[in-house]
Formats: sequence, structure tokens, C-alpha cells
Amino acid sequence: MSSVKPPISSFRELKLDGRRLATLTAYDYPTARLLDGCGLDFLLVGDSLGMVVLGHPDTTQVTMADMIHHTKAVALGAKYTPVISDMPAGSCVSPATALENARQLCSSGADAVKIEGGCDLLPAIKAILSDGIPVIGHLGMLPQQVVQEGGYHIKGRNAPEADRLLADAVALDKAGVGAIVLELVHPPIAEAISATLSCPTIGIGSGDRCDGNILVLHDLIGLFPWFRPKFAKPRADVAAEICRAVREFVEDSKG
Ligand code: KIV
Repeated sequence: MSSVKPPISSFRELKLDGRRLATLTAYDYPTARLLDGCGLDFLLVGDSLGMVVLGHPDTTQVTMADMIHHTKAVALGAKYTPVISDMPAGSCVSPATALENARQLCSSGADAVKIEGGCDLLPAIKAILSDGIPVIGHLGMLPQQVVQEGGYHIKGRNAPEADRLLADAVALDKAGVGAIVLELVHPPIAEAISATLSCPTIGIGSGDRCDGNILVLHDLIGLFPWFRPKFAKPRADVAAEICRAVREFVEDSKG
């Protein structure tokens, strides 16, 4: 393991070399410290923390204060793995506001920020990139829009939607983002976008032809048993282990 964090710009080189990316979310110090030695390409302080850590029904209520708090904790645990923090809902209302918020996340320990949205947010993305802060894009189903959209729906199934996704992805790639998360994108469209771009695509619920994968850690390790997206295959049942250990403790204590 390298003792320095690889720059976000190296993700494009990985794609050129035909190497795939693997990444997970982290929201706190011990998790970041555990994940830091596991070979992930970056840790995402996702605004999914609103759901799996703070108990909100979706990500729309997550604030900059929440993101700063959790970014600081993750940054303390991640010595070797780049930390990318989500720009929460409402944090990019203007390019100037977006830049100010991105700077705050970087002062809290983020190595880059992730922004949900396409061409509509290009001025904000360009303002952040011009300041030397790397940006990861996020297209397809945008969880920050879930209320307006009335649920989590697959994107790119019809031609106008697929064309818009490709145009957004090409614009972000040209602007210089480090990678683009494709969430719930119709798999053939995710594959076509991946084949078109120079930057890597990182899929979640978008088939297996993106340039890498991302998952919410809790979905991978079975730590949020009340809801699990269909595409996530848990590889552990940590929730059951916690309950087993606690019940044993209760029995031992109460006799
Ligand atoms: O907030 C998050 O965890 C995310 C991933 C699901 C991509 O944006």
C-alpha cells in the first residue's frame, strides 16, 4: 500500500490501464480506519448517512454541518485512501455558494467533492474545479431529487432520457471531473456512457459494465436490515452479529 494518497486525477489513468475501481461509503473514524487498508480506491462520505446513520427517510435533509462533522471523522481514519465528500442538497445553489461549501469540506479533510447533477450544475462544477478541488460527478437517479421524482426509478430507459444522460456525462467528462457515479442507469446506457468517456464511471445498480462499483457499506455488510436495495448483495450479516453479542451480554449480566 502506498504511503501517500493517490491523486483523484489518477482515476483516469486507471481507466486507460483497464483497471476497475472499487469504492464504499464510510461515515465515521473506526470504519474509515478499517476500510483504509482494504484496497478501495476512495472512501465516500455519502449523504446516504442521512438514512443509514441519522435515521432520515431520504438524503434531502442532510446539511453541510452534517457533512463537515462526518468528513472530519472519516478523514482522521483514512491515511492512505482518498476521501470524497458529498455536497448535500441545496449546497450548490450558485457557483459561489458551491465553491464556498466545497472549500469547507476540503478544510474538514475531504480530498474531493461529489455533486449530484448534470449540465445544470456545470457552472458550479467548473468553479470548484478552477479552484483546484477535484470533483466526482453523479448522474442517473439522483437521491437528492427523490421527493420530486416520487421514488427511486431506473434512468435512461427511453431515448430522450438516455440522450440527456450521455450529454450530461460528456459535459462533465470534458469539464474534467475525476469520475462519474452512475446510479440506477439502464445497464446498456451505462455501458455506452462508460465506453464514450475518458473518465471512469462508477456504477451503483447500473449493471456490471461500468468502470467500477460503489456501494453503501451498510448494504454490503448487512448493517441496515430494514431496507436493502435489490441490486446490493450483502456479504455479511453484521446486524445479526450485533444483536447476538448484545443478547449474550444481557443474559450474562442479568443471569
Ligand atoms: O450518498 C451516497 O452514499 C451515494 C452513493 C450511493 C453513490 O451517493
